[in-house]
Amino acid sequence: MSEPRKILVTSALPYANGSIHLGHMLEYIQTDMWVRFQKHRGNQCIYVCADDAHGSAIMLRAEKEGITPEQLIANVQAEHSADFAEFLVDFDNFHSTHSEENRELSSQIYLKLRDAGHIAQRSITQYFDPEKKMFLADRFIKGTCPKCGTPDQYGDNCEKCGATYAPTDLKDPKSAISGATPVLKDSQHFFFKLPDFQQMLQAWTRSGTLQDAVANKIAEWLDAGLQQWDISRDAPYFGFEIPGEPGKYFYVWLDAPIGYMASFKNLCARRPDLDFDAFWAKDSTAELYHFIGKDIVNFHALFWPAMLEGAGLRKPTGINVHGYLTVNGQKMSKSRGTFVKARTYLDHLSPEYLRYYYAAKLGRGVDDLDLNLEDFVQKVNSDLVGKVVNIASRCAGFIQKGNAGVLVAGNAAPELTDAFLAAAPSICDAYEARDFARAMREIMGLADRANAWIADKAPWSLNKQEGKHDEVQAICALGINLFRQLVIFLKPVLPLLAADAEAFLNVAPLTWNDHTTLLSNHQLNEFKPLMTRIDPVKVQAMTDASKEDLTASATDTGETAPAGNGELAKDPLSPEIEFDAFAAVDLRVALILKAEAVEGADKLLRLTLDIGDEQRNVFSGIKSAYPDPAKLEGRLTMMIANLKPRKMRFGISEGMVMAAGPGGEEIYLLSPDSGAKPGQRIK
Ligand code: 2FM
Ligand code: ZN
Repeated sequence: MSEPRKILVTSALPYANGSIHLGHMLEYIQTDMWVRFQKHRGNQCIYVCADDAHGSAIMLRAEKEGITPEQLIANVQAEHSADFAEFLVDFDNFHSTHSEENRELSSQIYLKLRDAGHIAQRSITQYFDPEKKMFLADRFIKGTCPKCGTPDQYGDNCEKCGATYAPTDLKDPKSAISGATPVLKDSQHFFFKLPDFQQMLQAWTRSGTLQDAVANKIAEWLDAGLQQWDISRDAPYFGFEIPGEPGKYFYVWLDAPIGYMASFKNLCARRPDLDFDAFWAKDSTAELYHFIGKDIVNFHALFWPAMLEGAGLRKPTGINVHGYLTVNGQKMSKSRGTFVKARTYLDHLSPEYLRYYYAAKLGRGVDDLDLNLEDFVQKVNSDLVGKVVNIASRCAGFIQKGNAGVLVAGNAAPELTDAFLAAAPSICDAYEARDFARAMREIMGLADRANAWIADKAPWSLNKQEGKHDEVQAICALGINLFRQLVIFLKPVLPLLAADAEAFLNVAPLTWNDHTTLLSNHQLNEFKPLMTRIDPVKVQAMTDASKEDLTASATDTGETAPAGNGELAKDPLSPEIEFDAFAAVDLRVALILKAEAVEGADKLLRLTLDIGDEQRNVFSGIKSAYPDPAKLEGRLTMMIANLKPRKMRFGISEGMVMAAGPGGEEIYLLSPDSGAKPGQRIK
């Protein structure tokens, strides 16, 4: 038997300023399944992650909510941890980049790079917000495109004509934070000399560490020549101060990947069996894999290995890149209800349904994965309930009733058990290669064979005949054994189903190697249904609730809507729209005629609004701030009157009222000055 491998695995660190959604979950589920597979095989596999807690977006978000960044981070970490745990993502440690371990490691690595001559310093000129007294990242500057004249474009590219430019090229630039006109200001910045590592990266990126498509993309960047990387930001900034450089902070992306090490170090402190250096020293023989989305490849396949090399540490064994999630063939959309938060999913559906669906569709490439909600229901019901669990439910009753729950010895179909045994190496290879889709296909192929064999033997018919008791028991015993094999193969994907099956089978936790044995003369426990079919009504309720989340969060302008894991929305403060879209918004003064709670909706009020020439019915997620809704009656507010009517569970919502604040009790409905009349347009 070969020595167990030592493997350290990470998923990208989620930003500490937003909720986890199903796009993020794709990566965490993918990683978790791979880690569980390695553990199932008897390898030492450690899975660490953390919240990515630094940067100006988090600083500004906390400021907006009137809390400290530390409070924001703590709140979000509690939410993230609960979501991951319920999706059965089993981190060995979930830490934070705002931690002492990370501060120390970031300083050490920086000082090593500096002392080895890999850090440069020079002054750069940037826009500065004179009101906020801070330098502005490109995404915090807006202005008119210098090429096509479209207003309201971000500081680095025009959404309309696609031009890319420097923020200083924008006409009429404004700070997206304060609205002030920014001024140009110089400041000293620190740069990591990435070109020092060109040769090393050329070799490393072609040494089997990357999927081919990713290596090809990186080759384009390498061929174009590498640039120095700006790793400092000026105060005010939420992060770590650079040692010896007061007022200068590490850019969030400098200390984020070091957060992988920091989380592992934090784990080592309570796991004496783990030696930090055995995993990170230059001569480490442990394997190190980072699972990431395709949008953050440059940070992981260029900057990170170069930093590690420059600091005298080991480099990753592999960077495993996945594509984005689409839902029903399109980018996740809040208005369609397909921007589903992890929590909203969990409120309606079992985590294992999604784990299986993702597994069934995840290959080893970087293609996007589509969660088609109809296919999701159909596939889970047909494969898991109709094929796998069905084997156990078809056979268990005959053993319980006909043989007091004792599974008899023997093998009624050696050709079938041989086929299962023969399939194991290929399923194992598919898991190892992260080709979960192939693993699931092969496992379901075995399930089909088992079902066809049982259908052919028809123990339910034999059981009605005299003298067939032993034959029925032999068939059902094999059926249960085949079910057990399938559970062994599926355990990395479906840990809850496996635990319930182990309880029914009356066996210790199953490991991969158990597939080589059969149960015989074995007492089973009572059979309880192991999985129920997905009711499409629940999927509908989930998408409805996602629309309801949207209504509730319409008051929360800090909400970002990344399409896939890691995709940072360009401006976390105000989602981008075209000017034409803005001009098309019909904003009106509205008189609240009636305000009442909606039965069955935690967050919604039903408002009847007078907008001059007509009355409107609007559902608004403001109940938490207005527990006594009648008090709103007679008050003026502002509404978007030409929002497309939206069918909700409770009726049709014909517009949206406008409110501000972080949520909960702090939602403030906007009102015009006195004198305004219902129906007047807001200009
Ligand atoms: O893109 C993102 O969501 C980042 N928070 C990922 C960081 S991964 C690592 F490098 F820390
Ligand atoms: Zn333009």
